[in-house]
Amino acid sequence: MRDKRERRPWARRDWQARLSARLVRLRSRQPGWHQEALRVLAVSEARSVVMLEAALPSVTDPVLKRLMTKHLEDERNHDVAFSGLCGDANAGKAFASRGTQSGRMNLLDLVAFFEVAELRGCQTMELYRELFAHDPKVLETLNWVFRDEKFHATYTNRQMDKWAREGHAAEVRRARDAARSRDRTSFLRQSAAFMLELPRLLVARPETDRATA
Ligand SMILES: [Fe+2]
Ligand SMILES: [Fe+2]
Repeated sequence: MRDKRERRPWARRDWQARLSARLVRLRSRQPGWHQEALRVLAVSEARSVVMLEAALPSVTDPVLKRLMTKHLEDERNHDVAFSGLCGDANAGKAFASRGTQSGRMNLLDLVAFFEVAELRGCQTMELYRELFAHDPKVLETLNWVFRDEKFHATYTNRQMDKWAREGHAAEVRRARDAARSRDRTSFLRQSAAFMLELPRLLVARPETDRATA
């Protein structure tokens, strides 16, 4: 059992993932949540595209370059898929055209960022498969995106371990700490926004109840 969880790190839900899932479930009761959630996913995929495009030209290791090129291609496909599903084909492109500061990250920090972000992405896909269970078209997309995100989570984790084994353990530890800290900060910011909405969310009836009322 332990071995299986080791191979599927996204299945090890920490307190952050558990609390986040509760808040998202509450929020999903709100009218319009499903479409907005797909738009947010499209923007998040577009953000990954921008970051990978900025980093790829300076990657010299051929194996890592091949993996990151495949990663970029996957995220472009995810952006197109979620933009189409949310009803705004330009949702992701609109974000990408605004540019981003993340192009300044060095390669180690970037891979550390994706190691955490892809794990969260997998947890989101698992949760959304439950929240979109009524929509076969979205569900089909979430299933193949989930498969890609598992690949991204796995190769970034292996790359970080490889750098640590190759004599860069201290730098790897620092980059992982920084990525986890960024992840926690972003979670706390989102949670604070959720908390302000909480009174309204707690009295909202599920959309399915409204549909059948
Ligand atoms: Fe993605
Ligand atoms: Fe990904």
